[in-house]
Amino acid sequence: MQAGAVLTLTRPDDWHLHLRDGAVLRSVVRDSARQFARAIIMPNLKPPVVSTADALAYRGRILAALRENGVPEDTFEPLMTLYLTDRTPPDEIRRAKDSGLVHGVKLYPAGATTHSDAGVTDLLGHCRSTLAVMQDCGMPLLVHGEVTDPKVDLFDREAVFIDRVMRPLRSAFPALKVVFEHLTTADGVAYVRQADGPIAATITAHHLLYNRNALFKGGLRPHWYCLPVLKREHHRQALVEAATSGDARFFLGTDSAPHPRGAKEQDCGCAGCYTASHAMALYATAFEAAGRLDRLEAFASLNGPAFYGLKPNAGTLTLERVQEQIPLALPLAESQVVPLAAGESIAWRIRASGQA
Ligand code: DOR
Ligand code: ZN
Repeated sequence: MQAGAVLTLTRPDDWHLHLRDGAVLRSVVRDSARQFARAIIMPNLKPPVVSTADALAYRGRILAALRENGVPEDTFEPLMTLYLTDRTPPDEIRRAKDSGLVHGVKLYPAGATTHSDAGVTDLLGHCRSTLAVMQDCGMPLLVHGEVTDPKVDLFDREAVFIDRVMRPLRSAFPALKVVFEHLTTADGVAYVRQADGPIAATITAHHLLYNRNALFKGGLRPHWYCLPVLKREHHRQALVEAATSGDARFFLGTDSAPHPRGAKEQDCGCAGCYTASHAMALYATAFEAAGRLDRLEAFASLNGPAFYGLKPNAGTLTLERVQEQIPLALPLAESQVVPLAAGESIAWRIRASGQA
C-alpha cells in the first residue's frame, strides 16, 4: 500500500487486555481507549477479581481512571471477567450473569503465568458444578491454555494442554462457550478449526509478527517475553493464516500486559508484552504482510462481538499508512514501560477514532 493510504474500520474491540490497577491503570487506559471501544479486562490483579462485587468495584476504578484521563464517557466500555478458582461457587456465576457487566470467567491453571497462584489446580476435579452453571447460562470460559507440569517442555505446553485439559473439558461440557486465549501454535489452530460447538480463539499482534528468534536477536530481550512464549516460525505462519482466513472463530485479543521496566529487566523477569499503545498499527502490519488488509475488520471488529453475543460498534477507526517510530519507553506510574518493538519503525498509525 502507498504511503498516506487510509484504512477505515468499524471501531474494534480488544478481547483480552490487562489494565492492572491504581497508578498503572491510570497510565495505560488511554492507550486502549484511543483505539478500542470495548475490552475484556483480565482479572489477574493481586488479589484477583474473584466475585461479582470485586468485578463491579474494579469496573468503577477503570471508569474513574478514564475520567481522570479526560476520556469522554461512553468512549470505552470495560467488559469485566471473574478469576476462576478451585472454590468459585456456582451461585457466583449466576450473580455475574445477572449483573450484565461480567462477560467471562478466566481459567488460569495455577502457576501458569503472572498472578496465577490462586488459579485452578484441577479443573474437572474441582469446578464441575461451576462449569455446569456457566454452560447453562451462556457464560464464556476464557482459557489460558498451558499445562503447568514442569516435566513438559515450555514450548509444548499449549499442545499438551489440548489433550490433557481442553478435550476432556469440552467433552464434559459440549455447550460451554470457550475462548482459547492467545493461541500460539499450529496445534491450537488445528484444534479450534476442527472443533465442534461454541469455541473461538484470540490471537495477539506479537504472536502474528514474531517467532521465538525475537527473544534472542542480538542478545536476551526481555520485552519480547510473554506467556505463552513466542514459538517457531511455522506456528507463527499458522496463526497468520488463521487470523486472515476469514474464519469467524479467530479474533483480536492483544494480551497487552504492562510491567514496569525494572520488573522485566532483572534476574527473573516478568512475562508480558506491552502492545496497547500501537495495537492496531501492529495488527495492520501483520495483515498487510499477509496481503489481507481486507480481512482486518472481521478479525478486529466483527468476529469477537458475534461470539460474545454483542453488537459490533457503531463508530469507526481510521488508520493511515505513515511511518512512525515506536517510542523507546512510555510513562508507567512512577516508572516506565518498554513497548513491544520499542525503537522500531512501524508503517501504520491511528488517524481518527469516533463514535457514530
Ligand atoms: O505474558 C503474560 N503476561 N501472560 C499472561 O498470561 C499474563 C500476563 C500478565 O498478566 O502479565
Ligand atoms: Zn493475558
